[in-house]
Amino acid sequence: MITREARELRLLAVLTLPGVERSVRHARLFLRDTLVPDHVAPGGELLDDMALVVDEFAGNCIKHTASGRGGKFHVALWAGDGVLRAEVSDEGASGARPVLRDAADGESGRGLLIVAALASRWGHRADGPRTTVWAEFAAGTFG
Ligand SMILES: Nc1ncnc2c1ncn2[C@@H]1O[C@H](COP(=O)(O)OP(=O)(O)O)[C@@H](O)[C@H]1O
Ligand SMILES: [Mg+2]
Repeated sequence: MITREARELRLLAVLTLPGVERSVRHARLFLRDTLVPDHVAPGGELLDDMALVVDEFAGNCIKHTASGRGGKFHVALWAGDGVLRAEVSDEGASGARPVLRDAADGESGRGLLIVAALASRWGHRADGPRTTVWAEFAAGTFG
């Protein structure tokens, strides 16, 4: 079985931002500036999908975790053989973790459903009280 460790992902860049709403835009620009043009074609669907996922992750940090109450969050971008990976790490939510909510809940609770639909894989891991949420995408010939 191929594990993440065996796939040799290479860290491209990390950015730390304050946990405020304006930072979501900076996270998106950082994603584009890091990946285009070496890893992702400009203006393509992959870039749009990854930007949407990073938006959702960053928004969740700000809305649901201590990052959004005077804290920070981190965006890390990884590349491997045919795969790109975005990770967003927050400052924790008193032990609460990301959960997929039923789409029937209405306006809220759709962010992670969108992530699940767009990413080839996604998940999260705990680091003490902190959470790192990650999503992977097939990188095609650019990876
Ligand atoms: N980084 C996170 N840390 C802790 N809980 C989270 C995090 N991200 C999401 N969640 C939880 O997962 C739920 C679903 O997230 P999401 O689908 O983005 O919906 P929404 O943000 O609109 O509530 C959130 O309501 C929240 O309870
Ligand atoms: Mg959300």
